[in-house]
Amino acid sequence: MSKITIVGAGNVGATCANVIAQKELAAELVLLDVKEGVAEGKAMDMMQTAALCEFDTRIKGVTGDYAATAGSDVVIITSGIPRKPGMTREELIGTNAGIVKSVVENALEHSPNAVLVIISNPMDTMTYLALKASKLPKNRVIGMGGILDSSRFKYYLSQALGVPASDLQGCVIGGHGDTTMIPVVRFATYNGIPVSRLLSKETLDKVVADTMVGGATLTKFLGTSAWYAPGAAGAGLVEAIIRDQKKVFPCCVALDGEYGQKDLCIGVPVVIGRNGWEKIIDLQLDAEEQAAFNKSADAVRSTNSVLN
Ligand code: 2OP
Repeated sequence: MSKITIVGAGNVGATCANVIAQKELAAELVLLDVKEGVAEGKAMDMMQTAALCEFDTRIKGVTGDYAATAGSDVVIITSGIPRKPGMTREELIGTNAGIVKSVVENALEHSPNAVLVIISNPMDTMTYLALKASKLPKNRVIGMGGILDSSRFKYYLSQALGVPASDLQGCVIGGHGDTTMIPVVRFATYNGIPVSRLLSKETLDKVVADTMVGGATLTKFLGTSAWYAPGAAGAGLVEAIIRDQKKVFPCCVALDGEYGQKDLCIGVPVVIGRNGWEKIIDLQLDAEEQAAFNKSADAVRSTNSVLN
Protein backbone atom coordinates (compact mmCIF):
# COMPACT_ATOMS: atom_id res chain seq x y z
CA MET A 1 0.00 0.00 0.00
CA SER A 2 1.06 3.50 -0.65
CA LYS A 3 1.96 6.57 1.34
CA ILE A 4 0.69 9.99 0.35
CA THR A 5 1.60 13.44 1.70
CA ILE A 6 -0.47 16.58 1.39
CA VAL A 7 1.34 19.80 2.19
CA GLY A 8 -1.08 22.53 3.25
CA ALA A 9 -3.99 21.61 5.51
CA GLY A 10 -6.20 24.48 4.39
CA ASN A 11 -9.59 23.93 2.79
CA VAL A 12 -8.25 22.39 -0.43
CA GLY A 13 -5.60 20.20 1.24
CA ALA A 14 -7.99 18.93 3.91
CA THR A 15 -10.78 18.21 1.41
CA CYS A 16 -8.32 16.38 -0.81
CA ALA A 17 -7.18 14.35 2.22
CA ASN A 18 -10.77 13.51 3.11
CA VAL A 19 -11.56 12.21 -0.39
CA ILE A 20 -8.28 10.25 -0.55
CA ALA A 21 -9.03 8.60 2.80
CA GLN A 22 -12.59 7.74 1.81
CA LYS A 23 -11.32 6.16 -1.40
CA GLU A 24 -8.61 4.37 0.62
CA LEU A 25 -5.93 5.35 -1.85
CA ALA A 26 -3.16 4.92 0.72
CA ALA A 27 -2.30 3.02 3.87
CA GLU A 28 -0.84 6.22 5.28
CA LEU A 29 -1.69 9.82 4.56
CA VAL A 30 0.35 12.63 6.09
CA LEU A 31 -1.14 16.11 6.29
CA LEU A 32 1.45 18.81 6.93
CA ASP A 33 0.94 22.47 7.67
CA VAL A 34 3.03 25.30 9.08
CA LYS A 35 0.27 26.51 11.41
CA GLU A 36 0.71 24.81 14.76
CA GLY A 37 -1.96 22.20 15.42
CA VAL A 38 -4.10 22.73 12.31
CA ALA A 39 -3.00 19.58 10.47
CA GLU A 40 -3.09 17.56 13.70
CA GLY A 41 -6.63 18.72 14.43
CA LYS A 42 -7.97 18.15 10.93
CA ALA A 43 -6.29 14.73 10.71
CA MET A 44 -7.79 13.68 14.05
CA ASP A 45 -11.24 14.95 13.03
CA MET A 46 -11.02 12.94 9.79
CA MET A 47 -9.80 9.86 11.65
CA GLN A 48 -12.92 10.12 13.80
CA THR A 49 -14.96 9.57 10.60
CA ALA A 50 -13.10 6.31 9.84
CA ALA A 51 -15.59 4.15 11.77
CA LEU A 52 -18.51 5.98 10.16
CA CYS A 53 -17.19 6.02 6.60
CA GLU A 54 -15.44 2.67 6.92
CA PHE A 55 -11.92 3.43 5.75
CA ASP A 56 -8.59 2.16 7.04
CA THR A 57 -6.26 4.88 5.75
CA ARG A 58 -4.27 6.24 8.70
CA ILE A 59 -4.19 10.03 8.56
CA LYS A 60 -1.47 11.77 10.51
CA GLY A 61 -1.27 15.54 10.96
CA VAL A 62 2.07 17.27 11.58
CA THR A 63 3.34 20.84 11.99
CA GLY A 64 6.30 21.38 9.67
CA ASP A 65 7.73 17.92 10.36
CA TYR A 66 8.89 16.76 6.93
CA ALA A 67 10.58 13.68 8.42
CA ALA A 68 7.07 12.29 8.99
CA THR A 69 6.42 12.48 5.23
CA ALA A 70 9.44 10.27 4.36
CA GLY A 71 8.96 7.67 1.66
CA SER A 72 5.79 9.14 0.14
CA ASP A 73 4.78 7.91 -3.31
CA VAL A 74 2.87 11.09 -4.10
CA VAL A 75 3.29 14.57 -2.60
CA ILE A 76 0.45 17.02 -3.20
CA ILE A 77 1.29 20.68 -2.72
CA THR A 78 -1.58 23.01 -1.84
CA SER A 79 0.46 25.50 0.24
CA GLY A 80 0.22 29.23 -0.14
CA ILE A 81 -2.48 31.85 0.17
CA PRO A 82 -5.81 31.49 -1.66
CA ARG A 83 -7.29 34.35 -3.64
CA LYS A 84 -9.78 36.86 -2.25
CA PRO A 85 -12.75 38.22 -4.23
CA GLY A 86 -11.55 40.39 -7.13
CA MET A 87 -8.06 38.87 -7.19
CA THR A 88 -6.69 36.80 -10.07
CA ARG A 89 -4.72 33.62 -9.41
CA GLU A 90 -1.70 35.32 -10.99
CA GLU A 91 -1.63 37.98 -8.26
CA LEU A 92 -0.67 35.29 -5.72
CA ILE A 93 2.71 34.64 -7.30
CA GLY A 94 4.72 36.99 -5.05
CA THR A 95 3.74 35.15 -1.88
CA ASN A 96 3.29 31.63 -3.18
CA ALA A 97 6.44 31.19 -5.27
CA GLY A 98 8.77 31.26 -2.24
CA ILE A 99 6.48 28.94 -0.27
CA VAL A 100 6.13 26.38 -3.06
CA LYS A 101 9.87 26.33 -3.78
CA SER A 102 10.76 25.59 -0.17
CA VAL A 103 7.99 22.96 0.13
CA VAL A 104 9.29 21.17 -2.98
CA GLU A 105 12.84 21.11 -1.59
CA ASN A 106 11.81 19.90 1.86
CA ALA A 107 9.41 17.27 0.56
CA LEU A 108 11.87 15.79 -1.94
CA GLU A 109 14.61 15.57 0.64
CA HIS A 110 12.48 12.92 2.40
CA SER A 111 10.62 11.44 -0.59
CA PRO A 112 13.06 11.50 -3.50
CA ASN A 113 10.97 9.09 -5.57
CA ALA A 114 7.65 10.89 -5.23
CA VAL A 115 5.40 12.14 -8.00
CA LEU A 116 4.63 15.82 -7.29
CA VAL A 117 1.11 17.15 -7.74
CA ILE A 118 0.89 20.94 -7.70
CA ILE A 119 -2.36 22.65 -6.77
CA SER A 120 -1.04 25.98 -5.40
CA ASN A 121 -1.81 29.04 -7.52
CA PRO A 122 -0.94 30.44 -9.98
CA MET A 123 -0.89 26.73 -10.73
CA ASP A 124 0.80 26.68 -14.17
CA THR A 125 3.66 28.86 -12.95
CA MET A 126 3.95 26.95 -9.66
CA THR A 127 4.23 23.71 -11.67
CA TYR A 128 6.98 25.22 -13.81
CA LEU A 129 8.75 26.42 -10.66
CA ALA A 130 8.42 22.97 -9.03
CA LEU A 131 9.86 21.32 -12.14
CA LYS A 132 12.84 23.68 -12.22
CA ALA A 133 13.44 23.66 -8.44
CA SER A 134 13.17 19.87 -8.16
CA LYS A 135 15.14 18.95 -11.29
CA LEU A 136 12.89 15.86 -11.42
CA PRO A 137 12.17 14.06 -14.68
CA LYS A 138 9.31 16.04 -16.26
CA ASN A 139 6.86 13.12 -15.99
CA ARG A 140 6.91 13.32 -12.20
CA VAL A 141 5.65 16.90 -11.93
CA ILE A 142 1.94 17.42 -12.62
CA GLY A 143 -0.17 20.51 -12.12
CA MET A 144 -3.80 20.02 -11.21
CA GLY A 145 -6.07 22.54 -12.90
CA GLY A 146 -7.56 21.07 -16.05
CA ILE A 147 -9.37 18.27 -14.20
CA LEU A 148 -11.07 20.84 -11.99
CA ASP A 149 -11.87 23.16 -14.88
CA SER A 150 -13.23 20.23 -16.92
CA SER A 151 -15.44 19.21 -14.02
CA ARG A 152 -16.79 22.77 -13.87
CA PHE A 153 -17.29 22.69 -17.67
CA LYS A 154 -19.33 19.49 -17.31
CA TYR A 155 -21.29 21.05 -14.45
CA TYR A 156 -22.31 24.08 -16.55
CA LEU A 157 -23.10 21.82 -19.53
CA SER A 158 -25.22 19.60 -17.28
CA GLN A 159 -27.17 22.63 -16.06
CA ALA A 160 -27.79 23.81 -19.63
CA LEU A 161 -28.83 20.34 -20.84
CA GLY A 162 -30.67 19.18 -17.72
CA VAL A 163 -28.69 15.92 -17.64
CA PRO A 164 -26.28 14.47 -15.06
CA ALA A 165 -22.71 15.79 -15.22
CA SER A 166 -21.46 12.19 -15.11
CA ASP A 167 -23.04 11.62 -18.56
CA LEU A 168 -20.91 14.39 -20.09
CA GLN A 169 -17.43 14.30 -21.56
CA GLY A 170 -15.36 17.42 -22.07
CA CYS A 171 -11.98 18.86 -21.45
CA VAL A 172 -10.47 22.22 -20.64
CA ILE A 173 -6.92 22.85 -21.82
CA GLY A 174 -4.51 25.80 -21.62
CA GLY A 175 -3.73 27.75 -18.49
CA HIS A 176 -5.68 27.54 -15.23
CA GLY A 177 -6.61 31.23 -15.30
CA ASP A 178 -9.85 33.19 -15.77
CA THR A 179 -8.77 34.32 -19.23
CA THR A 180 -6.32 31.56 -20.17
CA MET A 181 -8.36 28.34 -19.91
CA ILE A 182 -9.90 26.87 -23.04
CA PRO A 183 -13.02 24.69 -22.72
CA VAL A 184 -12.81 22.72 -25.98
CA VAL A 185 -16.43 22.71 -27.13
CA ARG A 186 -15.70 20.68 -30.28
CA PHE A 187 -14.81 17.61 -28.18
CA ALA A 188 -17.57 17.96 -25.58
CA THR A 189 -20.23 15.26 -25.82
CA TYR A 190 -23.32 13.97 -24.07
CA ASN A 191 -22.67 10.22 -24.16
CA GLY A 192 -20.93 10.60 -27.50
CA ILE A 193 -23.37 13.13 -29.02
CA PRO A 194 -21.58 16.45 -29.70
CA VAL A 195 -23.09 19.10 -27.40
CA SER A 196 -23.08 21.52 -30.34
CA ARG A 197 -26.00 19.48 -31.75
CA LEU A 198 -27.95 19.90 -28.54
CA LEU A 199 -27.28 23.48 -27.44
CA SER A 200 -27.38 26.80 -29.30
CA LYS A 201 -24.19 28.73 -29.96
CA GLU A 202 -25.39 31.39 -27.56
CA THR A 203 -25.88 28.84 -24.74
CA LEU A 204 -22.53 27.23 -25.45
CA ASP A 205 -20.80 30.62 -25.37
CA LYS A 206 -22.33 31.22 -21.94
CA VAL A 207 -21.24 27.76 -20.71
CA VAL A 208 -17.69 28.53 -21.83
CA ALA A 209 -17.70 31.99 -20.22
CA ASP A 210 -19.13 30.62 -16.93
CA THR A 211 -16.56 27.81 -16.89
CA MET A 212 -13.68 30.23 -17.35
CA VAL A 213 -14.69 32.30 -14.34
CA GLY A 214 -15.90 29.25 -12.40
CA GLY A 215 -13.31 29.74 -9.64
CA ALA A 216 -13.84 33.52 -9.47
CA THR A 217 -17.62 33.07 -9.14
CA LEU A 218 -17.11 30.83 -6.12
CA THR A 219 -14.51 33.18 -4.62
CA LYS A 220 -17.11 35.95 -4.79
CA PHE A 221 -19.67 33.78 -2.96
CA LEU A 222 -17.26 32.37 -0.38
CA GLY A 223 -14.87 35.25 0.27
CA THR A 224 -12.01 32.83 -0.43
CA SER A 225 -11.31 30.28 -3.14
CA ALA A 226 -13.27 27.06 -3.54
CA TRP A 227 -12.28 23.70 -2.04
CA TYR A 228 -14.74 20.85 -2.64
CA ALA A 229 -14.12 20.54 -6.39
CA PRO A 230 -10.39 21.43 -6.20
CA GLY A 231 -9.89 18.85 -3.43
CA ALA A 232 -11.85 16.14 -5.23
CA ALA A 233 -10.06 16.88 -8.51
CA GLY A 234 -6.69 16.52 -6.76
CA ALA A 235 -7.80 13.20 -5.28
CA GLY A 236 -8.99 12.00 -8.71
CA LEU A 237 -5.54 12.70 -10.12
CA VAL A 238 -3.86 10.92 -7.20
CA GLU A 239 -6.15 7.91 -7.70
CA ALA A 240 -5.07 7.59 -11.33
CA ILE A 241 -1.41 7.66 -10.20
CA ILE A 242 -1.72 5.28 -7.24
CA ARG A 243 -3.92 2.78 -9.08
CA ASP A 244 -1.89 3.11 -12.31
CA GLN A 245 -5.16 3.69 -14.14
CA LYS A 246 -3.80 5.13 -17.41
CA LYS A 247 -6.73 7.55 -17.40
CA VAL A 248 -6.66 10.62 -19.61
CA PHE A 249 -6.98 13.93 -17.78
CA PRO A 250 -6.10 17.45 -18.85
CA CYS A 251 -3.13 18.33 -16.62
CA CYS A 252 -0.44 20.96 -16.52
CA VAL A 253 2.77 19.34 -17.77
CA ALA A 254 6.05 20.41 -19.35
CA LEU A 255 5.79 20.74 -23.12
CA ASP A 256 8.76 20.15 -25.34
CA GLY A 257 7.43 20.98 -28.76
CA GLU A 258 3.98 19.39 -28.28
CA TYR A 259 1.11 21.76 -29.13
CA GLY A 260 3.77 24.04 -30.65
CA GLN A 261 5.17 25.04 -27.23
CA LYS A 262 8.48 24.57 -25.42
CA ASP A 263 9.87 25.31 -21.96
CA LEU A 264 6.39 25.80 -20.55
CA CYS A 265 4.03 23.94 -18.20
CA ILE A 266 0.41 24.23 -19.34
CA GLY A 267 -2.73 22.09 -19.54
CA VAL A 268 -3.05 19.39 -22.20
CA PRO A 269 -4.62 15.92 -22.09
CA VAL A 270 -2.21 13.33 -20.70
CA VAL A 271 -2.28 9.66 -19.74
CA ILE A 272 -1.79 9.30 -15.98
CA GLY A 273 -0.26 6.23 -14.34
CA ARG A 274 2.06 5.08 -11.59
CA ASN A 275 5.03 7.08 -12.88
CA GLY A 276 3.17 10.33 -13.26
CA TRP A 277 2.13 11.56 -16.69
CA GLU A 278 3.11 9.04 -19.32
CA LYS A 279 2.01 10.44 -22.65
CA ILE A 280 0.60 13.64 -24.12
CA ILE A 281 -2.51 13.17 -26.27
CA ASP A 282 -2.59 15.32 -29.40
CA LEU A 283 -6.12 16.67 -29.86
CA GLN A 284 -5.20 18.00 -33.31
CA LEU A 285 -6.55 21.46 -32.60
CA ASP A 286 -8.04 23.43 -35.47
CA ALA A 287 -6.60 26.85 -36.34
CA GLU A 288 -8.90 28.78 -34.01
CA GLU A 289 -8.26 26.44 -31.06
CA GLN A 290 -4.50 26.52 -31.67
CA ALA A 291 -4.57 30.33 -31.77
CA ALA A 292 -6.38 30.34 -28.40
CA PHE A 293 -3.81 27.86 -27.05
CA ASN A 294 -0.91 30.02 -28.23
CA LYS A 295 -2.46 33.09 -26.60
CA SER A 296 -2.92 31.15 -23.36
CA ALA A 297 0.70 29.95 -23.54
CA ASP A 298 1.90 33.54 -23.99
CA ALA A 299 -0.01 34.60 -20.88
CA VAL A 300 1.38 31.73 -18.78
CA ARG A 301 4.89 32.47 -20.05
CA SER A 302 4.51 36.08 -19.06
CA THR A 303 3.49 35.04 -15.51
CA ASN A 304 6.47 32.66 -15.43
CA SER A 305 8.77 35.58 -16.28
CA VAL A 306 7.89 37.13 -12.90
CA LEU A 307 9.78 34.23 -11.29
CA ASN A 308 13.02 35.79 -12.44
C1 2OP B 1 -10.06 27.17 -8.18
O1 2OP B 1 -10.18 27.37 -9.38
C2 2OP B 1 -8.54 27.03 -6.23
O2 2OP B 1 -7.74 27.55 -8.41
C3 2OP B 1 -8.68 26.88 -7.66
O3 2OP B 1 -11.04 27.09 -7.42
